[in-house]
Amino acid sequence: MNGQTRSELKQYIAEQAALVEAELERFVPQTWDIPAKLRESMMYSLMAGGKRLRPILVLAACEAVGGRPEAALPVALAVEMVHTYSLIHDDLPAMDNDDYRRGKPTNHKVYGEAMAILAGDALLTHAFYTAAQARKNGIPADRVVDIVEELALLAGARGMVGGQVADMEGEQGLTRLEELEYIHLHKTSDLIVFSLKAGARIAGAESRQLEALERYGTCIGLAFQIQDDILDLTGDEQKLGKPVQSDVKQQKVTYPYFIGLEASAAKVRQLTEEAKAAVREASFPHPERLLELADYLMNRDH
Ligand code: IPE
Ligand code: IPE
Ligand code: MG
Ligand code: MG
Ligand code: MG
Repeated sequence: MNGQTRSELKQYIAEQAALVEAELERFVPQTWDIPAKLRESMMYSLMAGGKRLRPILVLAACEAVGGRPEAALPVALAVEMVHTYSLIHDDLPAMDNDDYRRGKPTNHKVYGEAMAILAGDALLTHAFYTAAQARKNGIPADRVVDIVEELALLAGARGMVGGQVADMEGEQGLTRLEELEYIHLHKTSDLIVFSLKAGARIAGAESRQLEALERYGTCIGLAFQIQDDILDLTGDEQKLGKPVQSDVKQQKVTYPYFIGLEASAAKVRQLTEEAKAAVREASFPHPERLLELADYLMNRDH
């Protein structure tokens, strides 16, 4: 990627993230009678300033297929809510026990464990409410149902939650790389795959395009988590907005632990190439952003 493409892409990412954040600000209607602390706790983590990668992938996939990204916004917000809930719960003392997230004290540090659990529950539930709003943008009901079904599948026991459980059970006990791959594919790739396919479904994607996005998402998702594990060892806490050495503290078996830092970085590069090949082969009308985003993520430092 040359310098100009990189700065254009950075601007695109900043614009899409700003669009998502403006919508997230008003995602729980002001007229709803909700306990004030619950609303505050949900908004605290949601607006703490994540990278908004998953919603950006929803919008980029919608564009790649030739759709209007605005129509995909409800789904983009929904996946960010599911992701944010997963982080609130991931940081709890019973899980990774981390005190710092998105550059701020973690939710339970501010609101207590009970409220953090409930804020997570509320974000997860509200995600399904929000995804269903896509029908108001003129999206046919059968597409919306397919999206909601896939969100339930990929966020739940067969998806992200299953991956988190395998991660928890695997602590210290993993002996095979395939077991670690199962964890990464589910705890991280599944929501990324969901994001891409949902954005594409909004635009009316064909099954061939959905298959290509599934492969692209599986590869960049796996690469993203390997990079997360590398950054846990080599990253900068200020840039990351979360503690480094968290995996070491928890004695997590990670890619760098298994195969070393250099081989892990090589694996990230190989997966990125595989992801881009999947998109190129499917001849999308506008594949550029997806190709650029894969390269961008490979080189990320936060
Ligand atoms: C962190 O996700 C958890 C992983 C799956 C590695 P992100 O790195 O996307 O976190 P935010 O949303 O930018 O805070
Ligand atoms: C968490 O993986 C993935 C999910 C929250 C689903 P990690 O535990 O590695 O994420 P960080 O490093 O705390 O962001
Ligand atoms: Mg974790
Ligand atoms: Mg964690
Ligand atoms: Mg991590």
